[in-house]
Amino acid sequence: MTNLEGRVALVTGGARGLGAAAARALAGAGAKVVVSDIGDGAETAKSIDGAYVKHDVTSEADWVAAIDFTARTFGGLDILVNNAGVFYVRPIAMTSLEDFKKMQAVNVDGVFLGLKYGIPAIAQRSQKWDGGGSIVNISSVAGLVGSANTVAYNASKGAVRLMTKGAALECAEQKLKIRVNSVHPGIIDTDMMQGAVNLMSKVAGTDVETERARMARRHPLGRVGRDTDIANAVLFLAGDTAAFMTGSEVVVDGGMTAN
Ligand SMILES: NC(=O)c1ccc[n+]([C@@H]2O[C@H](COP(=O)([O-])OP(=O)(O)OC[C@H]3O[C@@H](n4cnc5c(N)ncnc54)[C@H](O)[C@@H]3O)[C@@H](O)[C@H]2O)c1
Repeated sequence: MTNLEGRVALVTGGARGLGAAAARALAGAGAKVVVSDIGDGAETAKSIDGAYVKHDVTSEADWVAAIDFTARTFGGLDILVNNAGVFYVRPIAMTSLEDFKKMQAVNVDGVFLGLKYGIPAIAQRSQKWDGGGSIVNISSVAGLVGSANTVAYNASKGAVRLMTKGAALECAEQKLKIRVNSVHPGIIDTDMMQGAVNLMSKVAGTDVETERARMARRHPLGRVGRDTDIANAVLFLAGDTAAFMTGSEVVVDGGMTAN
């Protein structure tokens, strides 16, 4: 079982969905957790005896402030979960360059800034832990395979996959004792998925339950994922049981990309 007593984690986009589930899992294993979000994460933080900081991951100044807040509140940083992300379903012809850039700003710039400011903060005490410090980047199956009408999202999540590997190798080369891995969820039942279901049922003229069932069928295991399915993978990568894993991609997709 993962024991994170004494460790401090920062989870971006932690107010709800996969971020909130990861924050709960990390806190459940004994970590002190800062929930950061562009929206209000105070309730989520309170429920796990953590702390909340308002944080737009596209802002460099917000990153500096969030990491400073984490160090002042809990004494340092050991685990960073780059989870904040946005998604839309839109054909290329209907995607403006501005739409495209907005998605990259959150999903790509946000992770890059997390690496840029997270690595030096985590390095300050990573030698202390058997498995070192840990950064977990939330990519997607969309970072492994393409799908129609999600080109902007594919671009962003593919970038997260390879930024993860590059950062992992750089940390190893510099002997920072920081592991960097990515998690690739299938379709998981959160507000983000509900937004996609609503949109698809509108476009296809079907009801919401039909679309939900269609999404479940895309996974060989016959259901969509639960937020805890992803949180368990994040928890594993955060702790010392994953001490020999870096630059790896952990796919949690009910078999979706297996064939
Ligand atoms: N739900 C899925 O099916 C699914 C599948 C694969 C990958 N993912 C990825 O998992 C992550 C979490 O997704 P989710 O389903 O929980 O989404 P969600 O929309 O339910 O939650 C996303 C959270 O990120 C926050 N956020 C958005 N923009 C932000 C910004 N600029 N700065 C800080 N916070 C910001 C939101 O306020 C929200 O709390 C995302 O990176 C997403 O791409 C989700």
